[in-house]
Order: sequence, then structure tokens, then C-alpha cells
Amino acid sequence: MVEHLDEVGVTACVVIGGGGHALVVIEAMQLEGRCTPVAIIDADPASCPPDILGVPVRGDDSTLPALIEEGATHFVVAVGAIGRPQVRRGLFESASAAGLTPATVTHPGAIVSAHATVGAGSQILAGAVVNARTRLGSNVIVNTGAILEHDCQIGDHAHIAPGSAIAGGVAVGAGSHVGIGSSVKEGVTVGAGVVVGAGAVVVSDVDDGLVVTGVPARPRES
Ligand SMILES: CC(C)(COP(=O)(O)OP(=O)(O)OC[C@H]1O[C@@H](n2cnc3c(N)ncnc32)[C@H](O)[C@@H]1OP(=O)(O)O)[C@@H](O)C(=O)NCCC(=O)NCCS
Repeated sequence: MVEHLDEVGVTACVVIGGGGHALVVIEAMQLEGRCTPVAIIDADPASCPPDILGVPVRGDDSTLPALIEEGATHFVVAVGAIGRPQVRRGLFESASAAGLTPATVTHPGAIVSAHATVGAGSQILAGAVVNARTRLGSNVIVNTGAILEHDCQIGDHAHIAPGSAIAGGVAVGAGSHVGIGSSVKEGVTVGAGVVVGAGAVVVSDVDDGLVVTGVPARPRES
């Protein structure tokens, strides 16, 4: 039983997922101080530690109604689920349907232009940069040190992994994963449900659902 949910009131946030990404998101929330992480749920709570940075792992998805009853009002999807966009989308939709509001998290060490748009439930982590007129959909991860230049459009549930560099005017479709340390050339369109492999350099458009790797990035043989 968590005693302090009522005390934190309207900002009490359930963290969905109890793995490594949750650790990073919880720390960002605690530093930002806008929304308080009060409980973690995970599909496999037995695989999680009892708490992460003092936030208790309370159980699986079936715990959500009890947490709402206790006063939780917000949620954040803290799983990466590389190449499985349906996982992050499904968690976002089921928590929204349960009546929780998506919390948007911005690490105090991130730089977000006043002329950027950030969708509900998105996470912008330490050292990330989101430049002017870039638009993030809902439930997007802009992970540690990622750069989104000006005029980019990032679809719902996409994950821009650590250290990736997205040049101006790039579009990334819903649910795509842009891998760690990769680069995307200006003006390129990356489709929906794409995985850009670690370290790839994307210099031309990528169709929906492909996995691309290498320099220049090419579709992988299936
Ligand atoms: C591209 C990727 C999705 C492929 O995953 P996978 O299908 O499990 O691939 P495997 O690890 O089985 O590797 C298969 C082959 O592809 C190669 N390969 C894997 N990832 C590669 C990459 N990013 N670039 C070039 N080659 C790659 C492997 O060396 C291996 O080659 P081999 O058959 O000659 O030995 C994955 O390696 C990747 O890059 N994921 C992104 C990781 C990321 O962004 N992490 C951030 C977490 S926050």
C-alpha cells in the first residue's frame, strides 16, 4: 500500500514499465518536479526490483484501478520496446482508456525551443535538443543527447534513441525507432514502424515497416 498518493494530489503519476528506461524517466521526473512518480507497474513485476529510485513496483496492469482509486491521475510509458511499436502504443491507449492523463516529461538538462510542439506523454531526456518548429506527437521518446533540428515532424509513439542526430525538415512516422548514434539527412522521410539500426546514416526516404542499417542505410534482407 502506498500511503502518499493522496499527498501528491493531481500530479501523482503511474510509471508503466520497470526496466532501465523507467530508471531514466523517473530520475528526469524527480529532477523536473512537475509530476511525481508514485508507483510502477510492469507486465512482469517479479522481474523488477522492489522499487526504482524509491518508487515502488506495485504489480502488473491489473493494479491500475487500485492506483487510480488511491489518487493516481497521470501516467508515463517508460518502456523502449525497440521494433515493437504496438507495445508502447497499446500501453498508452490502455492507460488513457482507464482514465489517466499522459504526463509529459522534460529533463531540466534538455533544450526545447519555445517554438517546438510537444505532444502529450512525450519524454525529452537529458541533453536532448528539440529545435524550433519541430513537432513531436504523443508518447514520443527523445532519448539522452538526441538532436532534433528545426522543422521535424515526429509521429506518435516514436523513439529517437540516444545520441541520434536528425537534421532539419525530417519526418519520422508513427512508432518508428531511430537507433542509437544514427543520423538522418535533412528533408528525409522515415516511414511508420521503421527501425533505423544503431549507427546508421539515412540519406534517402525509408518505406513503412522496414529495418535499415549501415552507411548509407539500406533495408536488411529478411
Ligand atoms: C538493427 C537491429 C534492430 C538488428 O537487430 P537483430 O535483428 O536482433 O540483429 P542481430 O543482433 O541478430 O544481428 C544480425 C546481424 O546484423 C548485424 N547488425 C546488427 N545491428 C546492426 C547495425 N545497427 N548496423 C549494422 N549491422 C548490424 C550484426 O552484426 C549481425 O551480423 P552477422 O549476421 O554478420 O553476424 C539492432 O541491432 C539495432 O541496431 N537496434 C537499435 C538499438 C538501439 O537503438 N538501442 C537504443 C536503446 S535506448
